[in-house]
Amino acid sequence: MCGIVGYVGRRSCAGLLVDALKTLEYRGYDSAGVAFFHDGIIETVKAAGRIQNLESKMESRIDVETHCGIGHTRWATHGGPTDENAHPHSSEHISLLHNGIIENYQELKAFLIEKGYTFLSQTDTETAAHLMDYYYKETGDFLEAVIRALHEIRGTYAFGIICKDEPGKIICVRQENPLLLGLGEGENFMASDIPAFIKYTKKYLVMEPGEIAILEADRVSLVDFDKNPIEKEPLVVTWDYEAAEKGGYPHFMLKEIHETPSCLRATMSPRVQDGLVRFDEKELPDHLLRDARSITILACGSAMHAGMVTKYGIEKLCRVKVDVEVASEFRGRPPLLTKDDLVIVISQSGETLDTLAALKMARACGAKILSIVNVVGSSIARESDYVVYTWTGPEIAVATTKAYSAQIAISYMIAARMAFVKGLMSEEALRDFTAELMMLPELVASLVERESEFRALAEQYCKYEDLFFLGRCLDYAASLEGSLKLKEISYIHSEAYAAGELKHGTISLITDDVPVIGLVTQTPLMEKMVSNLREVTARNARVMAICAPQAKDLLEFVDDLVVLPAARDELMPSLSVIPLQLISYHIAALRGCDIDKPRNLAKSVTVE
Ligand code: AGP
Repeated sequence: MCGIVGYVGRRSCAGLLVDALKTLEYRGYDSAGVAFFHDGIIETVKAAGRIQNLESKMESRIDVETHCGIGHTRWATHGGPTDENAHPHSSEHISLLHNGIIENYQELKAFLIEKGYTFLSQTDTETAAHLMDYYYKETGDFLEAVIRALHEIRGTYAFGIICKDEPGKIICVRQENPLLLGLGEGENFMASDIPAFIKYTKKYLVMEPGEIAILEADRVSLVDFDKNPIEKEPLVVTWDYEAAEKGGYPHFMLKEIHETPSCLRATMSPRVQDGLVRFDEKELPDHLLRDARSITILACGSAMHAGMVTKYGIEKLCRVKVDVEVASEFRGRPPLLTKDDLVIVISQSGETLDTLAALKMARACGAKILSIVNVVGSSIARESDYVVYTWTGPEIAVATTKAYSAQIAISYMIAARMAFVKGLMSEEALRDFTAELMMLPELVASLVERESEFRALAEQYCKYEDLFFLGRCLDYAASLEGSLKLKEISYIHSEAYAAGELKHGTISLITDDVPVIGLVTQTPLMEKMVSNLREVTARNARVMAICAPQAKDLLEFVDDLVVLPAARDELMPSLSVIPLQLISYHIAALRGCDIDKPRNLAKSVTVE
């Protein structure tokens, strides 16, 4: 949520800032703005709506000579998405942008009004600009003014700040919200995420909470809130610029679905040795799995659905009880965890605020934290005892696809390794399991190749306004993800239901206007699922079944049938998700939706 960019260096940067903002569009936003030094003043241009609106306003300014500036995409929290509320916000000497929420802004605002400051926006952020300006006037020192203000601000934040009297300098501050520094030759960058600067440099620093960076063209220095210097080693981005581009696909989401087979290979291969699933001792030691008596999974959204798949896998193979908790709900009550518990945290971005806060609560109880994360060095990764990375490269589309697939692949590996180290799976059985696991990229690729079949189905289903997804156990977990995918990108209302539960109330909603997508991949549950699908057929619903090959003959009565390749029951969520994603994608495309940036959504949810 919110994207921050900043540049200082030899290039003229007005256009660069706007282009950098475009690479962060996936984060979700509803207004955008830039501020840059030109002819001894700071010029600010802001526009509600898409970056194209900002670009139109910038038309005459895009080529002006400027070598230092900041830019922002805002996801509205305090005050609607208007030009005035867009960042950067300015005071007499200071301009700044902010990602996060200033909790005590009303108190600060009252103080600043008393001191004669006038507010032009409804935002919490404007108080920070005036407060820093107030201290700048008092001290005449840019860094000191920022630090004094930080000592008074309560809340979550990343800031990018410039001062009228110091062209060529950006002060960057990170508390909760992510902020990276891209390190170039004679130029440096500030950004919420790597795509904003990968075109120019692969060398970067991850700022940690409580750090302040002073960014100039030829130097970057870091201090803490007491001005103590901080030294850190730069990291190097492991993927290329092209990975953050659409590469000929109409949408990132489609590109990312097509990347799933290679992401699965990249994620699974390093964790297979001599034909057996085995994790590096540092990322996930065997003793952690062997000693696990009960597990709690914390996550949000699709990552929580990946947690549901993990639960069924671990409970089936390891006979260990697993609770899956929506992170925001977990936070709302006293945690019942102890030092004997293992907590698995799942997050693509590694920055989801509720998940991070839930992790910290679990940690405070003494629980051991294992996280499954995609973004290297992210907050969740840093707060965890052990991290298993999903190696999918950047995921840009708001709707997660390849990262979800990589998360559930890791979950099978954890379940299998746990079963093995607990003595519940023989080496031979683990070898068979591993071999089947390593077939997944090929099986997934065979489904991605059937895209035209799923597009044809999308044409049949895109006209409906309500839809049900049904499944039992692992298929129920997969249904939850299918339903979320459809909702978030096509805006069609849908429900995922445990199939057996439907007749306890909800079947009253089934009519010929409410189609049903049933998942039938779990061998012991097939007959029951078939009965449930017959029940909805009898209520005139159009029915699509997505099934394992062995269920095909039982499902001749349905309107539409997608037969998946054969795989063991535990692995079927990796296969059923591909038609679910592609059908949702094509329904959204047929309805003309903004697929990569669905309304109101953000890729990384960094507010509560
Ligand atoms: C998935 O398509 C969603 N965009 C969303 O539910 C997402 O999975 C959720 O916000 C969690 O994000 P995370 O994995 O980055 O923590």
